[in-house]
Amino acid sequence: MKFFVDTADVAEIRDLASTGLVDGVTTNPSIIAKSGLNFFDVIAEICDIVDGPVSAEVAATDHETMLKEGQKLAQIASNVAVKVPLTPDGLKTCKVLSDAGTQVNVTLCFSAGQAILAAKAGATFVSPFVGRLDDISRDGMGLIEEICTIYANYETFETEVLVASIRSPNHVIESAQIGADVVTVPPSVLRQLFKHPLTDSGLEAFLSDWAGSGQSILGS
Ligand code: G3P
Repeated sequence: MKFFVDTADVAEIRDLASTGLVDGVTTNPSIIAKSGLNFFDVIAEICDIVDGPVSAEVAATDHETMLKEGQKLAQIASNVAVKVPLTPDGLKTCKVLSDAGTQVNVTLCFSAGQAILAAKAGATFVSPFVGRLDDISRDGMGLIEEICTIYANYETFETEVLVASIRSPNHVIESAQIGADVVTVPPSVLRQLFKHPLTDSGLEAFLSDWAGSGQSILGS
């Protein structure tokens, strides 16, 4: 399973990337606006930090302009994945960019039918938003199960399921149980995955007992 970090906070990305556990980054217009940074500058900086795919989303809604924006974004760095919304124009743009060798992340996916269209359009990734479905009492993880089951039926579907809108470590665990290819997580969720109180208390006990032994590994 690949771990992408869902943020444009460069300091967070740099810190988490140092763990060796970060395989890519996703952004969207809201995340970029929240950063207050220049879009091209921040995507270029992130692409320097992380070798894996870095999603940068178009802002247009018509195919012609989406294509121009996507081609411009793809020139920032070789690891840019152009993000397009799951609309007729978005998938038209996905097909052209994908056929030209550009990675495409089709976002704002909320149904299995939409995910089938994204795969047929040659998407590199499809981003179903599980948290936003849960937020309206729908079954976000149920959608992931549906999509993974459908994709497994067709060898020609090479699109990776990139679980997005993740709210908790349980979304990550359930995504792994289902067999999703990628999760994109807020930095806070990635940090929560490390934590367990028994790990903390167990380590504290080990260190206390070791200190009592009077020994030193490096001093020996
Ligand atoms: O990558 C998509 C993700 O940023 C959406 O998350 O929390 O706005 O639903 P959220």
